[in-house]
Amino acid sequence: MKQFITHSASETTALGELFAKDCRRGDVLAFFGGLGMGKTSFMKGLVKGLGISADVTSPTFSLVNEYKGEKYTVYHFDMYRISTWEDLYSTGFFDYLESDAILACEWSENIENALPEDAVYIRIQRGALENDRVIDIGRGEEFYEDFGD
Ligand SMILES: Nc1ncnc2c1ncn2[C@@H]1O[C@H](COP(=O)(O)OP(=O)(O)OP(=O)(O)O)[C@@H](O)[C@H]1O
Ligand SMILES: [Mg+2]
Repeated sequence: MKQFITHSASETTALGELFAKDCRRGDVLAFFGGLGMGKTSFMKGLVKGLGISADVTSPTFSLVNEYKGEKYTVYHFDMYRISTWEDLYSTGFFDYLESDAILACEWSENIENALPEDAVYIRIQRGALENDRVIDIGRGEEFYEDFGD
């Protein structure tokens, strides 16, 4: 697991862009962290870093946004309103999971039981100062080894 601290939205976006280098086809990126923590800011950089030019916003009403580039396709979910398996099925999550697209899920707290074992966990928490964010990133087991839950 790696830990980063950012001090502004643009720094979080820059971190997302850097992180794109570690992203592979078929990855599931699971964002944890409450309202306004910077999940979408991170996604803006990530999508750019994957070579896709798209307008990245929280898929609040659509539930899922699709960004298609030459090399990668990204499905960006907002799980804020997802509370049942039926809700989750209706987003197409399980269909996209079988493709080689990259899936990114804001509010993964709501779908924790449905995440694959090798999901990449991206946990964003508030830091000491108002605009500080502590961002922990780890893949599946590696993340839990460091957190012990
Ligand atoms: N270090 C930081 N990183 C990211 N955002 C920051 C930071 N400091 C302040 N902010 C502010 O926090 C907000 C983050 O918004 P963003 O949409 O990225 O969050 P989010 O986690 O996707 O929220 P939501 O759960 O509502 O979708 C923005 O208003 C941004 O300016
Ligand atoms: Mg968001």
